[in-house]
Amino acid sequence: MTNAIVVEQLGGPEVLQWKPVEVGAPAPGEIRVRQFAAGLNFIDVYFRNGTYKAPQLPFVPGKEGVGEIVALGEGVLGLRIGDRVAYSSAEGTYAEELLVKAAIAVRVPDTIDNETAAAMMLKGMTAEYLLRRTFAVGPGHTILIHAAAGGVGLIAGQWAKHLGATVIGTAGSADKVQLALDHGYDHVINYREENFPERVLELTDGRKCDVVYDSVGRDTFPASLDCIRRLGLFVSFGQSSGTIANFELAMLNQKGSLFATRPSLMGYNATRAETEASASALFEVVASGAVKIRVDQRYRLADAAEAHRDLESRRTTGTSILLV
Ligand SMILES: NC(=O)c1ccc[n+]([C@@H]2O[C@H](COP(=O)([O-])OP(=O)(O)OC[C@H]3O[C@@H](n4cnc5c(N)ncnc54)[C@H](OP(=O)(O)O)[C@@H]3O)[C@@H](O)[C@H]2O)c1
Repeated sequence: MTNAIVVEQLGGPEVLQWKPVEVGAPAPGEIRVRQFAAGLNFIDVYFRNGTYKAPQLPFVPGKEGVGEIVALGEGVLGLRIGDRVAYSSAEGTYAEELLVKAAIAVRVPDTIDNETAAAMMLKGMTAEYLLRRTFAVGPGHTILIHAAAGGVGLIAGQWAKHLGATVIGTAGSADKVQLALDHGYDHVINYREENFPERVLELTDGRKCDVVYDSVGRDTFPASLDCIRRLGLFVSFGQSSGTIANFELAMLNQKGSLFATRPSLMGYNATRAETEASASALFEVVASGAVKIRVDQRYRLADAAEAHRDLESRRTTGTSILLV
């Protein structure tokens, strides 16, 4: 018997209960992992409160983590007992031990410690696909990333700068604005105090952005569309303030024949080859020092409710991890 955070009914942070759970032997193609730490992500909030539908109740939340392999199922190739692995699309990482599909586990290089691995896989591979595949960001591009001081935001800002773009961010306090400026952003707008489309217009001399990466959703829509140049791209990849309602396609025409997409990490890293390429690009930018991973909040796994409260009330910066 090991322990995990279990959700028996959907709701607020209080539904995250620390309980004993049974973890069986790995099925063919699975590994059993003893975890060092789990990553905290906004997607965990969406599953907990019902914004995204969990496959069943009760369930153990969490997608991201790092640990040591303690058992191998039949047919698992390329991994051994004792290997240190990380994953970003597992089921139920808020756990001391769990079963993970071997196909989504990547071996962690010695240069990356456990805390960094737990913090960076999901957010870092998200930054990878958004900046390199959803739109190939490079020199000459001007981009806007909302929630710039958050987990994805701080990684994406540094990576986009490394790719040569002019990077504009938004953040919800003066301290967060400074933090983002210290991590790759050329300009950061406090969108709780300033009208961000007006500021983007000023900062770009009226040219606006090639791409807007919007993970805030309801509160920044449709203003985000006013920050995009003619024929530019709107990337809606999250909804920390609530889901966008009534998105009329005709709006894309009115705002300048724009393109829009709603991507997900699982959609972009759907195959083993995609996952490996994405992870190795991330390991490379972190090992080179181009992208620094900040772990700003550490919680005991049993205190996951406190971690959710902090994330939802905009009290966190950078990444947060849950230590087993
Ligand atoms: N589609 C994908 O593949 C994918 C993958 C990973 C993450 N995501 C999305 O990316 C976003 C960032 O994820 P994260 O885990 O790194 O979280 P995070 O950015 O560290 O935290 C969310 C941030 O959103 C901002 N925010 C604005 N309005 C908010 C509100 N009403 N309530 C709460 N937060 C609000 C806050 O920053 P300010 O105070 O500065 O506004 C807050 O710190 C989330 O929307 C997540 O779902 C999507």
